[in-house]
Amino acid sequence: WPCARATRGRCRWSAWARCSSPLVHEATKNAVLAAIEVGFRHFDTAFMYGTEKPLGEAVAEALRRGLLQSREELFVTSKLWCSQNHPDLVLPSLRDTLKNLQMEYVDLYLIHWPVCVNGPPRFPSKKEDAVPLDFEGVWRAMEECQRLGLAKAIGVSNFTTKHLDRVLAVATIPPAVNQVELNPAWQQRTLRAYCADRGIHVAAYSPLGGQNWDGQGNAVLDSVVLAEIAKARGKTVAQVALRWTHEQGVTCIVKSYNKERLKQNLEIFDWELTEEDRLKISQIPQRKVVQTSSGLFSEEGEFTSVDPAELNN
Ligand code: A2P
Repeated sequence: WPCARATRGRCRWSAWARCSSPLVHEATKNAVLAAIEVGFRHFDTAFMYGTEKPLGEAVAEALRRGLLQSREELFVTSKLWCSQNHPDLVLPSLRDTLKNLQMEYVDLYLIHWPVCVNGPPRFPSKKEDAVPLDFEGVWRAMEECQRLGLAKAIGVSNFTTKHLDRVLAVATIPPAVNQVELNPAWQQRTLRAYCADRGIHVAAYSPLGGQNWDGQGNAVLDSVVLAEIAKARGKTVAQVALRWTHEQGVTCIVKSYNKERLKQNLEIFDWELTEEDRLKISQIPQRKVVQTSSGLFSEEGEFTSVDPAELNN
């Protein structure tokens, strides 16, 4: 699960059913406890992952066991699901999240996708399912969450520069963070430059290349370029990918259920890539794997045929 300081939910929208199973619940709770034990302090979850409850239980247990002295030692992020992307549903949704987490506040609350659906929680599987997203109304409600102290900071996820334009045009509190798919094989250069200019911090999900979402293997863990660098530095490919992301000033969000890999993923702070390594990584062919990403939607939340590469990278 966790990464260079963060963990994220076990499942994505497509695996919602699995998230509800008692086995996944217990495995998630144990992974969080293991992560706390090895030193992780940033946990990333979302209403739709179904991991808020096990995360909350793990934190409560860590506090009982003395692994943590107080909740304030943690940085907890959660996200508003597409079905709650309606102005009047934002605050109730955050309150549900806080109940699940057994917490009084989240450190960061994100709009999960620039996509809106009516009805029960789901991701729109066809164009007709999506309804226009009220950027202004939803962002105002997000700002209210921060003003009430229920979220220390607010931000977005899977937003392109065009979606960010829409939010910034109406924001009195600008988004603190944009969490997006980002790794050496999908470097998001244009989006990062845009965010840097506007003081929006970027966080990377799938920094190790994701779960073979496009069926074409893992562009990060299978990368020959990264393997050569890893061999030369005496590191693993995962560590090279995480170190590269960290060096870009981007927060890594990676998960592992394996305690050894959890530890490994933290061991990226006391060494550096060389200039030559960075140059080689900058030349890795770019491939986006999360095909449901915001590049497939127009700013209105509708499906579009726009090539995501034009929007983000
Ligand atoms: P595991 O839990 O078996 O360690 P995501 O991109 O969705 O965050 O998923 C990260 C994936 O990478 C998980 O399947 C996780 O599997 C795996 N992983 C995490 N850390 C490492 C590592 N250091 N080396 C190889 N695979 C890793």
